Amino acid sequence: MKTVDSINFAGKRALIRVDFNVPLNENFEVTDETRIKAAIPTLKKILKDDGSIVLMSHLGRPKEGPTNKYSLKHIVKNVSKLLGSNVLFAEDCIGSGAFAGSAALKPGEVLLLENLRFYKEEEKGDEAFAQKLSKHGDIYVNDAFGTAHRSHASTAVIAKFFGQEAKCFGYVMAGEVASIDKVLNKAEKPFTAIIGGAKVSDKILIIEQLMNKANNILIGGGMAFTFVKAMGGQIGKSLCEDDRLETARELLAKAKQKGVNIYIPTDAIIADNFSNDANKKESKINVIPDGWMGLDAGPETVKMNNEVIMNSKTILWNGPMGVLK
Ligand code: 3PG
Ligand code: MG
Repeated sequence: MKTVDSINFAGKRALIRVDFNVPLNENFEVTDETRIKAAIPTLKKILKDDGSIVLMSHLGRPKEGPTNKYSLKHIVKNVSKLLGSNVLFAEDCIGSGAFAGSAALKPGEVLLLENLRFYKEEEKGDEAFAQKLSKHGDIYVNDAFGTAHRSHASTAVIAKFFGQEAKCFGYVMAGEVASIDKVLNKAEKPFTAIIGGAKVSDKILIIEQLMNKANNILIGGGMAFTFVKAMGGQIGKSLCEDDRLETARELLAKAKQKGVNIYIPTDAIIADNFSNDANKKESKINVIPDGWMGLDAGPETVKMNNEVIMNSKTILWNGPMGVLK
């Protein structure tokens, strides 16, 4: 894997796709800086070389274009504090001000672009949008591991607008890939994979790969309900991808054939609404009443998962097992 170590950034503008999708509270303060901290070594290497930096990221899932709540301006001070240097901000990632800003960068300077998802072209993987973004830098650095499973304009499509010698990965990406390689190829058995998150469609490839490596796969989070429905259960108004029921059945059949134990939750904490003051109760997972939805693992499932985890020598965890806001 080619990383920033193989490039001298002196006098160059590095366009870095980071994952600064961090949680903000109601006052728009960052409540967890982990993802920003993680990116700092990559940024420092480039600044040490005497390069300049254009940072681009998404924040949340804005649907209506520019929205204050999802503005990356809220995180500028955090990036600046953690990096120990001033960070400029461009209010529109492909506006004329943004291009003037990136063109004027001097060695050692850093510019953060506004939320890429204020343009629907980002998630669509639009080529023209990716090409525009590519004009912000001489070298493209992908360090957005948390977004690596999305083939969006700034994560995948943009790479084609840079020559082989002008693109590489950052340290976050390299570190995560090394960890995954270690887990997949040198795992001590029993090896248990915990796979959560909202969508089966996001996890099909990883589950298929893990079936060749893991002894146990614990399924959780929103996608568990697609599996439960695929097995004939009633899931009320829980999250479900109806177009993936067949996929879920195929995954279960494949696991059986390979002798991998797949654990689907057996009970859930259900609620009649997605809010803090909703009515809540426990339920078997396959008889969730109409109008109710599963939002977390039930006590029986927690106990089952605990037992499997405590008997494992290697754990790989991907995705939340309950609602995460
Ligand atoms: C994440 O936090 O999962 C990543 O930043 C990707 O965000 P997304 O799930 O909204 O694409
Ligand atoms: Mg996600």
